[in-house]
Amino acid sequence: MIKTVERQFPGDWEPAPIPENIVIDETAYVHTVYSFDLCRSEQPAAITFARGSQVNDGTMFDLGPRARVHIGECALLTSVWFLCDEEISIGAFTMISWSVVIMDTYRMPLGPEARRAELQGLSKRSFRKVAADVPARPVRIGSDVWIGFDCCILPGVTIGNGSIVGARSVVCEDVEPYTIVAGNPARVVRRLNKPEGFP
Ligand SMILES: CC(C)(COP(=O)(O)OP(=O)(O)OC[C@H]1O[C@@H](n2cnc3c(N)ncnc32)[C@H](O)[C@@H]1OP(=O)(O)O)[C@@H](O)C(=O)NCCC(=O)NCCS
Repeated sequence: MIKTVERQFPGDWEPAPIPENIVIDETAYVHTVYSFDLCRSEQPAAITFARGSQVNDGTMFDLGPRARVHIGECALLTSVWFLCDEEISIGAFTMISWSVVIMDTYRMPLGPEARRAELQGLSKRSFRKVAADVPARPVRIGSDVWIGFDCCILPGVTIGNGSIVGARSVVCEDVEPYTIVAGNPARVVRRLNKPEGFP
């Protein structure tokens, strides 16, 4: 069971306290504690928000018991859905637009018999969330990345530093650094120059 501490965000519409395993730099901004309503992670530092990072309204951290998420320095996120059972990391200066889903697991087995069993089990659980034992593969999004609106980043994907993902793309393979990709499935549109001094 996650303990909570008496911390709250100023002006938050949701009166709940921030869970104690959420680590927030004093210069970071999270719009509402409601973003953690689906966070079941039992890790000591389940979600970490680095210096100057900003998570706007509509973002949800849907985390299983072993999950960890890191939000890098000055990263800016709006209405992002994290579905995480192991690890998702967002690099520094990365920008993620509205309605993006980032998942390191499908949470559901592919076979219909196992899916039925999972759905039947839901009614017997207090938290009523699917929690099938499906393997997770970490997702790593580098620094200075820009992900356009309505994208989906699938399990195991790494997006290299400085890359851009076009609006409404589905990313199922790694993206090399400083590359624009777009479409479903996302394909390379063109390469970008790496500015001097950038990672
Ligand atoms: C990906 C993106 C950055 C590319 O911009 P660009 O370099 O000006 O690219 P172009 O418009 O010249 O398009 C290049 C090619 O990619 C295709 N393309 C561009 N964006 C695409 C997308 N989202 N999905 C599918 N194909 C796309 C174009 O059709 C074009 O294909 P073609 O060469 O076969 O004609 C831009 O299209 C985009 O999606 N930006 C995201 C904007 C956003 O979500 N903003 C939210 C607010 S933060």
